[in-house]
Parts: sequence; C-alpha cells; structure tokens
Amino acid sequence: MAQFWKPGTERPPLLDDDDGGILLYSASSSSSGYGYVSIEKQRQRLPVFKYRTAILYLVETHATTIVVGETGSGKTTQIPQFLKEAGWADGGRVIACTQPRRLAVQAVASRVAEEMGVKLGEEVGYTIRFEDLTDRDSTRIKFLTDGVLLREMMEDPLLTKYSVIMVDEAHERSISTDVLLGLLKKIQRRRPELRLIISSATIEAKSMAAFFHTSKKRRGLKGEDCVPKTEPAILSVEGRGFNVQIFYIEEPVSDYIQAAVSTVMSIHDQEPMGDILVFLTGQDDIDAAVRLLTEEAQNNRKSSSGLVVLPLYSGLSRADQDLVFSPIPRGKRKVVISTNIAETSLTLEGVSYVVDSGFSKQRFYNPISNIENLVVAPISKASARQRAGRAGRVRPGKCYRLYSEEYFVKEMSAEGIPEMQRSNLVSCVIQLKALGIDNILGFDWPASPSPEAMIRALEVLYSLGVLDDDAKLTSPAGFQVAEIPLDPMVSKMILASNQLGCSEEIITIAAILSIQSIWISVRGQQKDLDEAKLRFAAAEGDHVTFLNVYKGFLRSGKSPKWCNKNFVNYQAMRKVVEIREQLKRIAQRIGIVLKSCESDMQVVRKAVTAGFFANACNLEAFSHNGMYKTIRSSQEVYIHPSSVLFRVNPKWVIYNSLVSTDRQYMRNVISIDPSWLIEAAPHYYQHHHPNSIPH
Ligand code: CDP
Ligand code: MG
Repeated sequence: MAQFWKPGTERPPLLDDDDGGILLYSASSSSSGYGYVSIEKQRQRLPVFKYRTAILYLVETHATTIVVGETGSGKTTQIPQFLKEAGWADGGRVIACTQPRRLAVQAVASRVAEEMGVKLGEEVGYTIRFEDLTDRDSTRIKFLTDGVLLREMMEDPLLTKYSVIMVDEAHERSISTDVLLGLLKKIQRRRPELRLIISSATIEAKSMAAFFHTSKKRRGLKGEDCVPKTEPAILSVEGRGFNVQIFYIEEPVSDYIQAAVSTVMSIHDQEPMGDILVFLTGQDDIDAAVRLLTEEAQNNRKSSSGLVVLPLYSGLSRADQDLVFSPIPRGKRKVVISTNIAETSLTLEGVSYVVDSGFSKQRFYNPISNIENLVVAPISKASARQRAGRAGRVRPGKCYRLYSEEYFVKEMSAEGIPEMQRSNLVSCVIQLKALGIDNILGFDWPASPSPEAMIRALEVLYSLGVLDDDAKLTSPAGFQVAEIPLDPMVSKMILASNQLGCSEEIITIAAILSIQSIWISVRGQQKDLDEAKLRFAAAEGDHVTFLNVYKGFLRSGKSPKWCNKNFVNYQAMRKVVEIREQLKRIAQRIGIVLKSCESDMQVVRKAVTAGFFANACNLEAFSHNGMYKTIRSSQEVYIHPSSVLFRVNPKWVIYNSLVSTDRQYMRNVISIDPSWLIEAAPHYYQHHHPNSIPH
C-alpha cells in the first residue's frame, strides 16, 4: 500500500484520547467481541451522559436549545430518554425526534426501545411514510422523518401533542428540515411551552441560533414565570474520538469502485483487525462492489475466510439492515459498503478503517431548464471529515481517501449546499400552501431558495390545477392533491384516474413508482433479467409493464418462487401491496371511487399524462441514436436501457424521472399521443410552447 498512499497533513477534527482507550464493544453490538458491557454502562459511557443535567436545564429554561456533538456521542439515542426520565412525556405528552432518513428512523427507534427494554411500537415508536409503528395511547417517544412531521401539521397545525421536538441531523439541511425549522419558529410564538432541540454533528450553531433568536414579544402568554428565554442556548458535546490518520491516493483513480475494492483487500492483507467502512454512492455501485469483493475474497485463498461483506443503503430490507448491526463470527472482519447514510445518521461499532470515494448521490435542479436529477457529485470537505471521523470511534483509526490531497485542499468546497437550493420545490410549495402559508416568497427560511425555482414550482402547480390565479389552493383538487403523501404530479395522476375510470390501475402504478425498483438486479445476469422483463413488456411502456407484473404476482398467490423465477424482487412487491393498501384508503377518504378500466390502457396513459405532462419529450426527427428533446426546454434526453421502450423509441413519450450519467436518461417511460398534452394542460402548452405540439 505504501507506494500508493500519501499520508495527509490534515489534522482530523477529533480529540486525542486521554483515558487509555476504553473499549466500548459489547457482546451484542461488536463484531470482534471485546467482552460484555451492559447497556446501562454503555449509555453512561457515551459523551452526552456527562451533559445530562446541563441539557435538561437548558431545555427547561430556553425555548430552543442547539446541541452540537460528534456522531456517535449519543445525541439521538440518549436525549429523548433523558427528556422522558425528566418528565417531559408525562400527562400524555409525546417527545418527538425527527431524522431526514427513513432507515435512520427505524434503526434508532429500535435501538432506543432495546435500551429501555420495551417493545418497539409501544412506549417507543416510529412513523415513516406508509409505515406507522406507534400507539396512540402509549407512545411517549416517537421517532419520525421530518417529512412525516410536516404532514402531521396539516391535521394539527400547532403540533399540540408534542412537548419537545428534537430536530436531529440538522446539518444535513434537507428540504423538509429547513421547512420544518421555519414552521417551528412560527409555532413557538403561539406555543411558548413547546421546547425545540436542534441537534447536529457540524452545524454552524451561531447562524442557527441567529435564525431562532426573536426579539418579538410572544403572544398568548399568561404568567411571566413560565416564559423560557427566547435566545437559543448552544451546547457543545465534547466527543471522545480518537486520532484518525488520513491517507490520500497519489494519482487520481478512474474507477472508484475498483479502487475501493483493492483498498479494502490491501487493508485486509496488511492491517490489524478492525472493521472497514466504505463510502460509495448508491445501490448500483454498492452492489457491484459487494460482488467484486466477494469474488476477490473467494479467489484470494489467503483472505478467503476473513471477510464478511455487507451493503448498507435505504432500499434494504429490514433483515439486511439488521445484518449490518449484528455481530459476526469471531476472527472475521466486517466490511460495510454504504451510501452517505453512515456518514452521520448511523453509527456502526467497531469500524477502524474508512475508505472514502469522495462522492455521493446528490439532487440537482436547474430552474432554467426545470430539470431535476440525481447526480454522483463530489462531497464537501465537511463531509470528508465526518467520514474520516467514523474510523476513530473506538480506537485510533485510518482513513483512505480515493482522491489526492491537492484535490481535497483545492477543489472540494468547504460545505455542501442546502437541498433547498438545489431541488425542485413543487412538493415543498404545495405543503406550505396547504398549511395556509400564502406568501411563500416572504416565508422565513433558514436558507432562501432561489426565486426562479419558486416561480417554476408555482407555475407547475398552476398547470396541474392545484393553484388558482391568486396562487391559492384550488378546491377541491388542490386540497386533494395536498392530502396525498406523494409528489404532486403523482397525486394529480391519481385524481385524474378518478374521472378516467382507472383508479385501481393508477394506484398500483403510484405504489410501484414510490419504491426504488421491482426487479432483482444481478450483475452478470443482465441478459436473463432482460428476458424476464420481456415476458411482461407492454408496447405502451413501463407503467403498463408494471401492471402486468403486479397482475402476475397476484395470480401466483404472491409467491416468492414466482418472483425468483421472473427476476421480480419479492420484498419490493410485498411493499408495493402494502403501500397500495394505504393509498387506496387515502384515495377513498378524499372521494376517489375505486374502479378498474380492465384492458383499456389508453385511459391509463391519459391519466399518467394528466400528472406528468411537464415531462413530455419528442423523438428528434432523423435521430439514429434515440435522442429526444424535452418539450419545455429542448433538453437532450435518452430512454434508459432499463426501460422496455429502450430501442423502441416511440415518437412521443413522458418520463417519470431523469438520471444522469454520461447522458440524461429517462426512467419509467410511457408513450403518449401529443394531443393529450393540450387536453391535460392547456395553459402550459398553449401559452409556453405553442409551436411544439402538432394540433
Ligand atoms: O446521535 P449520535 O450520533 O450522537 O449518537 P447515537 O446515534 O445516539 O449513538 C450512540 C451510541 O449508540 C453509539 O455508540 C452507537 O453505536 C449506538 N447505537 C447502536 O448500537 N445501534 C443503533 N441502531 C444506534 C446507535
Ligand atoms: Mg444521531
């Protein structure tokens, strides 16, 4: 390894250990087993434990408390328990703790339930979209995504059942977190007894404090005694991280998956025991790396028995998630290959080596072309430091960066850009409207979105018939769309299906679109997968193909065997059935009549058009390579190879989302008749693109 790696000069932002290194391994969570430590002892050894009194005092006396502390110091799992022990959940009140990521919600909730010795779903519960594991009467500590808390505001605008709301992982600056912070600031004025905790690994606490500092007199106060200070308190939890030695690659690598795999193998050959955490970007490259490493370990006899390679990303089944946190046989080395979910949201015990690709998947939105896509993009210096820090939790560690030191110093930006400033704001705007916030441009944002992005969002919502000329929600359509917890374009598609008489089919499609993929993808078996897909392929496109798969699945009696034979992901299909049930309930609640169109696929395509007209594309005349142009901005796009319409290239299509690699690829594509576009969105197409569609 020596000739490849150059030790870095950057001092990691971690403190040296001063107590000889207590090993915090426990029998239940360690992969190497350093002896048993009771859960109570583990809790007491966490850095936040020393701050218990201080935290409780600050929460008592301040409306807002900002807690900054390194990942793994115990913020998420301990603070809600401290609050409960101090009585904040007495009298039927509930303590909420939000997370930007669904997987983190599940993982921390089950950890806290285990620590408290209670059954998950009772005293400690969680809610994520389409999954509610709480009990109305007995849940006292509730973990939930920031998005779900926003939705709860539609029913209970002041969130009256919560005594304390902890907005966790605030440094991630997800859109929902930012919107939530803006709204909570408003709620605080009406509910002086509500306490907020904003916690994060790296936030610039001062700017957050400035955001929450209001000099305005609060309304609705009775006695002055109960008035908490309006100036936010800031508490910094000193971590007990160990030194992490940083190594940079000398020459830039062209293939970071391969580079990550060889780095893991060299660590395994040359370094003492300790688990390895590898940061890649998404399911595709993680699955590829897992396979390469497994093959590598099998071919290389010397190391063949030593590695247990596990993926970690949000689409994972519960069983696979649990594996990541479970102990492995003694003498083996765990290698976890993860997205940036392990950067700060989750802590894995026993990691001593980190391999950092320097990339993550990020959402980018261009308000000019009105195109949003998910791109593999360089991370910030702040993220790189967090990733390195993951190696030093239990003893000194090493971090191998698959990029050069010069690149780190000169090219990487200091901080990431808040999601609010690089996303499509359609969902965010409709939610604010539904909460009665009409002046969106004047909303008090922690980070203002660009006016262009705002205007684009208003325009799309107007074309969807969700907003009226005064930019107010239309009745009933606007309120109905806002009620469905999906992208407004999907919700509109569901509404349209009611008039078109195909709600049963469209709800199935909506359920399938809301999960990552219904196919099993195994590298090397691409041909078999393509053949399997052909059995279901419909000339109309992917949406109709999905309906065929769903029908086949039901006909098989929801059989796992049938799924395997057809390269259909059984877990994913079960999830589809579950989500479909919930969507059905919501649809009925807002007055949609469930009806099937049987085999009339034209109405299904029309319903898709009613929601996704803004994603219409036209095949370039004389294009030999399948190039399409989007109607709204003449952007070059291509049909993704995973689509059943790949190489079929119908003249007019609508896509569901774009992914960009070497080109912009359309995923989930359906063919349409262009006249439906004007029918679906006369304003959008007649005013903005009068010449682009044949009449
Ligand atoms: O929120 P923060 O990053 O400060 O720490 P935490 O998530 O509360 O984690 C505190 C401790 O609980 C760490 O030592 C984790 O390893 C442990 N933990 C765990 O073992 N299993 C989980 N699912 C979550 C946390
Ligand atoms: Mg945490």
